[in-house]
Amino acid sequence: MALRNIRTMGDPVLTKPCKEVKEMTDRTRELIDDMLETMYDADGVGLAAPQVGILKRIFVIDVTGEDPFVFVNPEILETSGEQEGWEGCLSVPGKTGMVKRPNYVKVRALDENMEEFTLEGEEIMARAILHEYDHLEGHLYVEQVEGELREASEVQEEAEKKKED
Ligand code: NI
Repeated sequence: MALRNIRTMGDPVLTKPCKEVKEMTDRTRELIDDMLETMYDADGVGLAAPQVGILKRIFVIDVTGEDPFVFVNPEILETSGEQEGWEGCLSVPGKTGMVKRPNYVKVRALDENMEEFTLEGEEIMARAILHEYDHLEGHLYVEQVEGELREASEVQEEAEKKKED
């Protein structure tokens, strides 16, 4: 396993649609392992293959830090409801923005063994799945931000102050 370089906004690889994975090879397995390691190392909750420069339909998510999911060739089957919240991205370091997304998502994908699974997610899991899925289509969350992109540290400070009040 190895850490990969995370591409940041402005890199054209982040704006391109990704290709379907036809078969699981040793190289792709290694990519998935590296993506997980890179995500944990950067304290992220999700990472998509284009963020490490590979245009394949793969992303990984772990919203709790101990429950990783690998999604290969994901398809969004259903969404419903609405949530609004601060979102960030390892490809847009230090920034955050308010994004409205569905509160529920049902997704079908293959795992790292190319076995199909269906998963339902709500709240942060739904947000993470839809955010990572957008990467596979060449989109970043900043395109959907309501208002301005802000410094993540400022927003965090404000939230902490609010808690104290
Ligand atoms: Ni992202």
